[in-house]
Formats: sequence, C-alpha cells, structure tokens
Amino acid sequence: MMTETKLDVVRDPKRVRERIADWRARGMTVAVVPTMGALHEGHLSLVRRGQEVADRTVASVFVNPAQFAPGEDFDAYPRGEAQDFARLADVGCDLAYAPPRSAMYPDGFATSVRVDAYADILCAASRPHFFGGVATVVTKLLNQCRPDVAVFGEKDYQQLLIVRRLARDLDLDVEIVGAPIVREPDGLAMSSRNAYLTTAQRAVAGRLNAIMAAVVRAIEAGEPIAAAIAAGRADLNAAGFDRIDYLEARDAADLSAPGDRLAERHLRLFAAVYLGETRLIDNRAINARGN
Ligand code: PAJ
Repeated sequence: MMTETKLDVVRDPKRVRERIADWRARGMTVAVVPTMGALHEGHLSLVRRGQEVADRTVASVFVNPAQFAPGEDFDAYPRGEAQDFARLADVGCDLAYAPPRSAMYPDGFATSVRVDAYADILCAASRPHFFGGVATVVTKLLNQCRPDVAVFGEKDYQQLLIVRRLARDLDLDVEIVGAPIVREPDGLAMSSRNAYLTTAQRAVAGRLNAIMAAVVRAIEAGEPIAAAIAAGRADLNAAGFDRIDYLEARDAADLSAPGDRLAERHLRLFAAVYLGETRLIDNRAINARGN
C-alpha cells in the first residue's frame, strides 16, 4: 500500500552534501543507499538496513550511463521516479538524491576510477566496461554525500567487494555495509531487469536458485567442485536457460579460485545466465563443514 507520505528530494550535489553535513553536524549518523531506481524489495531492504545502522538514510537514484556499454540496455532500463519516490517514502527513507546526468557528468568530464582487483573474472570478464563505470559513479556519490555508511547488496557481490576496495584505497572514510539477497517466493533474486522477462522466461528464471542450491549442497557434501559445477551447467541447460556466462565457485573474501574440494575456507557460488537478451546474476554461500 502506498501512502501519501511526502519524501524530500534533492537533485543538486551541493544541496545533498549540505543536508547530510547538517545532520552530521547535529550528531546524527547518515547512511547512503546508491541505486539506479526501478526500486523493488531488494533495494528497500538496503534502506531498512541503513535505518538500522544510522540515524538518517538517503537513497540515490541515478541510472548511470557509464556502466552500460553501447548496445546494452541503458535506454530500455526501467525508469519510474514517481513510483520510486513513493516506495522510499513508504519505508521512511529520509531523503532521495536524484541528480540529473549533467550534475554527474558535466561537459568535459574526463576522469574515471579503475579498481584493478577482481578485474578480469566473473562479471568483469564479460562486461569489461562495467565496473569502471560503477567505481567512478560510486566514488562521486560518496564524495558528494560524505555519509558515515553506504549500503550495498550481496546480489552484486563482486560490486560490493570492488566498492569496499575503492573506499579503502581512496581513503573515502565511509563504512561499506553489505546486505543479503532478497528473493521472490520461487527463489529468483529480485532485480530491476526481471521486468524484461516474458512469462515463459520468468518460469525458467525461477530454476536458477534451485539449481545453484543443489550445486552448493553437492560441494558441501564433499563432491569435487568441478563435477558439481558440470552437473549444475547441465541442469541449467536442461531447464531452458539460453546461455551460461559463468557458473563458478570462488573464495568469498577475495574471489580467488579454490582447489577442487571444499577446504576450511568460505566459498561462494556465482552464476550469470541469459534468457534471451536478459542477463541474470545470482550467488550463494558455500559453507565449509563445521561452519
Ligand atoms: P541497482 O542495480 O539499482 O542496485 C542498487 C543496490 O541494490 C545494489 O547495492 C544492489 O546490490 C542492491 N540490490 C539489487 N537487487 C537486490 C536484491 N535482490 N537483494 C538485495 N540487494 C539488491 O547496483 C547498482 O544499482 C549500481 O551499480 C550502483 C551501485 C547504484 C551504481 O550505479
């Protein structure tokens, strides 16, 4: 149910910085939740996490052109400001920051942030432009806002690690908080891009989580990782996914490749698959025995 609650919206980078600096000057802590809009429960869970860890929570809404390659879905990406603001108001978000493109990328903009860690694996291998665009816009947002905390979803696990690294390497003086993946009832990780799926594709999409869970169980039971993944790939193909970009187990802390069996370390299973043109990503924890 949407209420008539009014949400404060600012669009000017100077104004958002003033508003946040003012809260902090009054002794309040501030969390920022960066988003590209088309907000769903996954995004709203990050706002709620922000509310748990800070006194004030600000959500940014900006569809960042720098993280889309030519030919990707920048133009088609779902946009709906009014509904996004209503949802943020509903969960009691304190402020929305929705800068225009000209504020983020003024004429002559010529700087980019490149994180060399995690740079040629998983999503970075198939979308080489992507994390540069993310790192640049996240650096800008965190500089503009200067919050105490920024909240990112584990849905985009590689992104979360890259943001942690850039905050540390560039002394951004912000705590990066990760939040768990929010799923649809059938297990599909919520994503703005799920809106692209046809009814038939949506039915197949729900199988991804179950197939990944089976691979995780097999690895946890001691099956060699390569064998468990080969079985998972066969299951994905049989379920009707059009293409598997990757299905890989990696170290949860640094994304390094594991040996062939689960040792005493925390791993994670990562997947990116296509249904038609729509790319879905997901990941889940693989726990070492005794954990
Ligand atoms: P976007 O895809 O809109 O996601 C914004 C935030 O919501 C990210 O931290 C993402 O991990 C989180 N999120 C998305 N779906 C989720 C789910 N099902 N459960 C939990 N969290 C979820 O990620 C981006 O935007 C952009 O790259 C951004 C960081 C805003 C930079 O442009």
